[in-house]
Amino acid sequence: MAGTVQSPDTRTLLIVYHSLTGGTLQMAHAAAKGAGKTPGLLVRMLRAVDASPDDVLAAQGYLFATPENLAAISGLMKDFFDRTYYPALERINGRPYATLICAGSDGANAARQIERIATGWRLRQVAPTLIVCTHAQTPEAILAPKTIQPSDLAACEDLGEAIGTGLVLGVF
Ligand SMILES: Cc1cc2nc3c(=O)[nH]c(=O)nc-3n(C[C@H](O)[C@H](O)[C@H](O)COP(=O)(O)O)c2cc1C
Repeated sequence: MAGTVQSPDTRTLLIVYHSLTGGTLQMAHAAAKGAGKTPGLLVRMLRAVDASPDDVLAAQGYLFATPENLAAISGLMKDFFDRTYYPALERINGRPYATLICAGSDGANAARQIERIATGWRLRQVAPTLIVCTHAQTPEAILAPKTIQPSDLAACEDLGEAIGTGLVLGVF
């Protein structure tokens, strides 16, 4: 039977994301592309609604990607943490993580929230939170599909590559 044979040494990077108008999704894809350059790394990209405590426990590192909505992480990203926080508590201490935020003009509160949750989980932040602003100000612009600039996507790709490489080399 055909199937993927996974070595017990395979390291997994879990990318959990939510996106309403596509910006965060593009950022998460770019990070996955960067992480995918690392041989021996399994990159799992899951929508926040689909990610379970078992997915969190099975990974060795994390990228959290969310829009800032109403000065907070998006509701479905919060739901992900609400569902997984206690099942994973004390079981993922010290694992590396980084965060991608897609915001209209700010992003700082969403970044702070994830950093507080990750501190509770005793995760180790291995890169500064990357905030990309789409400069959407009007209701129409905010609700329109987003196109993330190539330079911002390149930064997401670099971040994905850095955390992926560090995970496989065991430097975190
Ligand atoms: C309901 C709602 C609330 C928002 N609140 C904020 C906010 O507090 N701060 C901010 O910088 N951007 C805010 N935005 C703008 C989004 O962060 C921005 O459009 C971003 O590109 C969304 O990412 P996405 O394309 O992945 O959904 C808000 C957007 C929506 C729809």
